Amino acid sequence: MDASGIATDCTPVRYERQGRTGIITVNQPPVNALGQAVRAGLLRALALGQADGEADLLVLLAAGRTFMAGADIREFGQAPLVPFLSDVVAALEASPKPVIAVLHGTALGGGLEVALGCHFRVALPGTRLGLPEVKLGLLPGAGGTQRLPRLVGPAKALEMIVSGDPVTAAAALDIGLVDWLAAEPDPLAAGLAFAKRVRAKGLMPRRTGARGDRIAAVSPLLFSAARDDLARKSPHLFAPHRCVDAVEAACTLPLAEGLKRERELFLACMNSPQRAGLIHSFFAERAVAKVPGLAADATPRPVHRVGVIGAGTMGGGIAMCFANAHIPTVLLDTTQEALDRGLATIRRNYQASVAKGRLRQEEADARLTLIRPSLAYDDLADADLVVEAVFESMDLKKQIFTRLDQVCRPGAILATNTSTLDVDAIAAVTSRPQDVAGLHFFSPANVMRLLEVVRGRETAPDVLATAMDVARRIGKVGVAVGVCYGFVGNRMLHQRAREATALVDEGAAPDQVDRVLTDFGFPMGPFAMGDLAGLDVGWRIREERRKAGDPDTPPPGWLDRLAEQGRYGQKTGAGIYRYEAGSRTPLPDPVTADLIARDRAAKGITPRAVTNQEILERCLYVMVNEAAKILEEGVAARALDVDMIWVHGYGFPAWRGGPLFWADQVGLGTILGTITKFHQASGAKQWQPSPLLERLVRDGHGFASLN
Ligand code: CAA
Repeated sequence: MDASGIATDCTPVRYERQGRTGIITVNQPPVNALGQAVRAGLLRALALGQADGEADLLVLLAAGRTFMAGADIREFGQAPLVPFLSDVVAALEASPKPVIAVLHGTALGGGLEVALGCHFRVALPGTRLGLPEVKLGLLPGAGGTQRLPRLVGPAKALEMIVSGDPVTAAAALDIGLVDWLAAEPDPLAAGLAFAKRVRAKGLMPRRTGARGDRIAAVSPLLFSAARDDLARKSPHLFAPHRCVDAVEAACTLPLAEGLKRERELFLACMNSPQRAGLIHSFFAERAVAKVPGLAADATPRPVHRVGVIGAGTMGGGIAMCFANAHIPTVLLDTTQEALDRGLATIRRNYQASVAKGRLRQEEADARLTLIRPSLAYDDLADADLVVEAVFESMDLKKQIFTRLDQVCRPGAILATNTSTLDVDAIAAVTSRPQDVAGLHFFSPANVMRLLEVVRGRETAPDVLATAMDVARRIGKVGVAVGVCYGFVGNRMLHQRAREATALVDEGAAPDQVDRVLTDFGFPMGPFAMGDLAGLDVGWRIREERRKAGDPDTPPPGWLDRLAEQGRYGQKTGAGIYRYEAGSRTPLPDPVTADLIARDRAAKGITPRAVTNQEILERCLYVMVNEAAKILEEGVAARALDVDMIWVHGYGFPAWRGGPLFWADQVGLGTILGTITKFHQASGAKQWQPSPLLERLVRDGHGFASLN
């Protein structure tokens, strides 16, 4: 109980009074999500505030690290529980006593909608405000689409709601979303300070929902332009289009009707499979950080200084990742020219970010100075972590790890960025295999969010914990995987690539295969991706494997012929597709069509019409089957780990949740039936049904049961 004699517990919300100010505090760690108990507590606390004759004004704030970060996402997909959030917002707005919301940390989604229901908004320094529902396949369903346009104008509201991106506190002040930027770091002090101002000025409740000035006479062009933009940029997504409809309703309908329209649109989103996929992605992205079986006492080792070996595309990108996280990094290569070239590329990348307005020049300069070029292994003596990123040669990697073992301090973690080689064999050349792991970055390393963290046979638990922690620090989605050829992502990719090529051998055109996958939601198909990555890479690997007598590598075909002609893809202006000067748009090329036709003739294949359905099934079911084998072998621990690898490393549409979440939606019985049919027809090893998949179907379970 406080000095003024009133404090009431409406767990997890509390009402108390200081002087004449009624204070409502939400306390629901970790992020004060607006679950049923918080909503009910808010209504009770608000009623107490209204009934409290000593209070002339109410302040609403949250305890802990953040203001309310949104509705409780865990409640979505279940029967809605009263009171609804929209009722809470309406009750706040209707309050006869002025209500001030004090925001800190993040005010997101339902949290910002609650603040929009309040009459005044104060933000602490560093607060981020936004309506990110669209990223979960939803739209703000508690009046956000109706109140935000009334407060900040339809154009700005549309931008915030359709993108889901938050704005800073300073930007929020600029656009009128908040009324005051507090200097106080403490929400209560800020709330009390603003309450004084409200009293001094005699301000009355200012109800956002009642405002009409900002939405009067908005041009319909705003909405048609937004729809055109979406049709171009996100043709597959359901929710952004509904967001535009809802903001348009705010500008054309009275509040009550607009809210009704928002509700209908919200329910349409809620019932869309995209919402389920995106929410699976949200939780899975957080779940991968918790590695099953990794003891809680596996404390990460401190990582203050890093070394990267190899200043090529990969090594340079990796060094940028560390510099971006303000970790000093030594970038090592064998020649001054290689270092100069690598640093020039890094500098160019940073300059491009500055030119696009994404990075301030001083910040770019600061990051660049954190990368120290070196030709001497001795400079790695005090590194806490070294990442080797040279080309794929086991001999070379063994030499490097032998050297690292000599120069690095005891306890330093030695990591390889190999994508295909055996991490255990590399670890074996050192005297400390427990300190060796794989850190498999994806190209371009400074952009792609996935990091496969490869746990070798002897990798110590605290080394794995350190690698996962480093992933988080450098803004990556780290997923722990075991050792096998290609790990999880590339092993599945390899199967897809083989099917895609076989489909073309049998009669499909490369652009037909690509189109089926882009229609599915991938940003690009396998052949356009091949041209982007460089056809020489796969060609060299196949050549090596043929030389080694690998029975799984087919004899040279049209893809190899393209590479033999120096058609490596985008970097040479032609590959599977041709490219016009300065353009990255793949255009079907008669030269490729001719090579394919000759290759078919040489193999005695009469081309047939291949349906889009067959393309989809063969390209994706083969990955599902391989993933099931990967899970069975324990190379990935959970289906959700596979999902996040494909969403963050290979552009699998997040709104489909990942390949295994998607497979569950299709139905594992259907998938197994088709896989069995393909196996009977081809006898091919990749179509041998995975015993795990068979077991799941027999038991009536989905991949989700393995999470
Ligand atoms: N509901 C339920 N749980 C949530 C949550 C939410 N809205 N937001 C975060 N959490 C959980 C996370 O799952 C995580 O749980 P575990 O510790 O068990 O893994 C925990 O809170 C901490 O979250 P983070 O690890 O993400 O912590 P962070 O500090 O890195 O980020 C954050 C905090 C910026 C708030 C981030 O969690 C976030 O972006 N959350 C989602 C915000 C959002 O999308 N809000 C809109 C919800 S939809 C809505 O509000 C609909 C509506 O109109 C009514």
